[in-house]
Amino acid sequence: MHLQQVRGYADIMAAHAGAATEAWRDGQEADVEQEMDRLTLSIVTAALFKLDSSAHAETVGETLPALQEIATRQFDRLIQVPEWIPTRENRRQRDLSAKLRGIVMAELLKRRAADAEGNDLLTMMVQASDAETGEGMTDAEICDEVVTLYLAGHETTALTLTYCWYQMARQPAIEARFHDEIDRVLAGRAPRFEDLERLPYTRMVFKEALRLYPPAYFMVRAVAEPFEMGGHRIPAGSVLMTSQFGMHRHPDLWDDPERFDPERFADDAERGWHKFKYFPFGGGPRICIGNQFALVEGPLILASIGQRYRFELLQPDQQVELEPQITLGPKGGLPLRLRQRSTGAGASTE
Ligand code: HEM
Repeated sequence: MHLQQVRGYADIMAAHAGAATEAWRDGQEADVEQEMDRLTLSIVTAALFKLDSSAHAETVGETLPALQEIATRQFDRLIQVPEWIPTRENRRQRDLSAKLRGIVMAELLKRRAADAEGNDLLTMMVQASDAETGEGMTDAEICDEVVTLYLAGHETTALTLTYCWYQMARQPAIEARFHDEIDRVLAGRAPRFEDLERLPYTRMVFKEALRLYPPAYFMVRAVAEPFEMGGHRIPAGSVLMTSQFGMHRHPDLWDDPERFDPERFADDAERGWHKFKYFPFGGGPRICIGNQFALVEGPLILASIGQRYRFELLQPDQQVELEPQITLGPKGGLPLRLRQRSTGAGASTE
C-alpha cells in the first residue's frame, strides 16, 4: 500500500474510469453515487486482488452492496438481534457472506495450488509468514482480510468522488479551473501516475471534499489506561468517540468552514497543520492503510472522467442531504445529469 506499490495500480485505475463512461449518454440522469461505487469496486477487484473481474465482478457487485445495506440497517437499530437467531435478515446475511467468501476461497485455493507469484494482495497474503513463528495466514484469516479491504477500500473513495462532482456542478468557477487544468496537462490522453504532480488543482478538489464530507466521519477508541483530558478523568474501559466531521467544520479552525473551497489546500498547505485539524484517514497506529491508494485513485478518476463528462444539477436549488450511517452518504443517492464534454472527450490510452 506504499506509494511505489500504488503507482503500479495507476493505469488500472485510469483505464477503469475511462471504461465506466462508455455506457453513459449525454443528457442522461444518473445516480452518481452508484456510478462511483461500481467504479471503485471494480478497481479494488482488479488492482488489489487481480481477480478475473468479468467472472466475479457481477457476484461481488451484487453481494457487497446487499451486505452493506444490511449492515447499515443494523447500525441504525438501537437493539441488535443476535446473529444466531435465524431471522430473515440474518439468514440473508449469512447466505450473501458465504457467496462472497466462496469467490475469495476459490481464488485462494487456485493460488495455493499453483504456488503463485505476483504482487497482488491475495498472492502476497498466501505467501506471507509471521517473522517470529514462521506461520502463514489461515484461509479464514485471508478471507476476512479480503472482505475488510473490499469494504474499507471502495465506498469511502466513491463517496468523496460523488461530493467532488456535486460541488463542481454547483460552482462553475471551480469546475472551469479543474477543466482548464486537466485539458492543458493531459490534452485528451488518459492520466498516468506521473501526471498527478502536474494536477495540483484536481488533487485540491479531492482533498477539500474529504474535509467537508469526510466519508469516515467518526472514530471510536477504547481507553486502555485511565487519563485526564480537559479537567475530566477518563477511566479505563471508557469508549471515546472523535469526529472528523466536527473538527473539519469547526469555526475556530477554519474560515467559512461550510464553504467548499479547494484553495485551502493550495501548495499542500495541510502539511503545516496540526495533524488532528484535518484527518480524513484517521491517525496514530490505526491510520488508514489505503490513504495513498485513495489519494492516487481519486484524482486519477476525476481527471479521467472529467475529460469526457461533466455533471449538472437537476434543478438549480438541488441540495444534498447528508445521511450519517457507517459512512457519510447522501440521502437517497445523488442524481445528477451527465453532459458529454466537447473538448478532450476522447481520452486515448496514449
Ligand atoms: C477516501 C478514502 C478513504 C477514507 C476517507 C478512509 C478512512 C479511513 C479511516 C478514518 C480509518 C481509521 C478508522 C479508525 O481508526 O477507527 C481507515 C482504516 C482503514 N482503511 Fe481506509 N479510508 C479510505 C480508503 C481506503 C482504501 C482505498 C483502502 C484499501 C485499499 C482502505 C483500507 C483501510 C483499512 C484496511 C483500515 C483499517 C486499518 C487498521 O485498523 O489498522 N481505506 N480508513
